[in-house]
Amino acid sequence: MTRALFDPITIRGLEVRNRIWIPPMCQYAVDAQDGIPTDWHLMHLGSLARGGAGAVIVEATGVVPEGRISPQDLGLWNDTQRDAFQRVTDLIHSQGAKAGIQLAHAGRKASTGREWGPRTDGNVPAEHGGWQPVGPSPIAFSGLAVPTELTTDGIREVVDAFAAAARRAVDAGFDILEIHGAHGYLLHEFLSPLSNQRADEYGGSLENRSRVLLETVDAVRAEVGQDVPLVVRLSATDWVEGGWDLPQTERLTAWLGEHGTDLISVSTGGNVADARIPVGPGYQLPFATSIKQTTGLPVAAVGMIDNPFQAEQIVALGQADVVLVGRESLRDPNFPIRAAEALRYDLPYKPAQYERAYR
Ligand SMILES: Cc1cc2nc3c(=O)[nH]c(=O)nc-3n(C[C@H](O)[C@H](O)[C@H](O)COP(=O)(O)O)c2cc1C
Repeated sequence: MTRALFDPITIRGLEVRNRIWIPPMCQYAVDAQDGIPTDWHLMHLGSLARGGAGAVIVEATGVVPEGRISPQDLGLWNDTQRDAFQRVTDLIHSQGAKAGIQLAHAGRKASTGREWGPRTDGNVPAEHGGWQPVGPSPIAFSGLAVPTELTTDGIREVVDAFAAAARRAVDAGFDILEIHGAHGYLLHEFLSPLSNQRADEYGGSLENRSRVLLETVDAVRAEVGQDVPLVVRLSATDWVEGGWDLPQTERLTAWLGEHGTDLISVSTGGNVADARIPVGPGYQLPFATSIKQTTGLPVAAVGMIDNPFQAEQIVALGQADVVLVGRESLRDPNFPIRAAEALRYDLPYKPAQYERAYR
């Protein structure tokens, strides 16, 4: 029996074996604070690839040191990091999956602690590896430091850093690049009028607030050429009146398509601490479907998609082209194999070593 979920998808010439992809998920596992992937990343990402995912997107990876969320984040601002990532992409490829990476700058939400350990709120102090964050405007995210406003030269440096990191990612063997434009991090901060109150060409109108993201896409595309699939992750809404919203997301998505973006990963929220979000199964799916319908660009849906039948239905009905399974794949890295079993689909890449478990 065929299943939409297990149909390959081709994006800019890259064939991915199915529609279940792993979204970026920070591991805060770089204890050395040097941005270099560790054995943890190898094991974690390798097991997700082995579990049958079509593509595994590596967590938010800082394009500059001050663009990391925490001091324990991955980075791609130097060639030592690039060379270390080759092991990651080789391992993912050895399991038949495609390797993606989310390139990120955390902006005003940078220099925060990992979710466990001695401190979990506020900024990380300098003696523990923290730094002064930057942002579009000197407006703090609740509970965090007031960011230093980026100058236009500072913006140019960020855009260049995305392009340089993209080059390193491709050289390290990544098949898919994702630009993090969501969750209240730097590029989303520029998009939202709640965090961007600049008076220059990067603030004010939707065109101006979108400028830095579009410049980033252009710079990345110019650096890596026309063959590399490019994903942009957006928060489709701030979930707050007067903030970033779906109509703006749809206009931006049309521009992103014109600038060479291949797929939008549709998330929400992250820019406002006390936003009221109606969390529930597939709660972000309607945003993805609307963006797909209004712009024609392929979309990935994410957010509490953790049931094989729900996932199959989303793809079969054309509500999204790809489903991203996050926390459920942490609970069970073999979710795609299990989904195939549930849907009575004979998965050709189920590991032979595990065959007896499914008899
Ligand atoms: C541990 C963890 C780390 C995450 N890190 C990132 C990240 O690095 N970049 C990102 O865009 N989203 C991140 N997210 C959000 C996920 O990619 C995903 O959008 C979210 O978990 C909702 O999907 P789910 O309900 O399938 O988990 C993270 C989520 C979790 C649980």
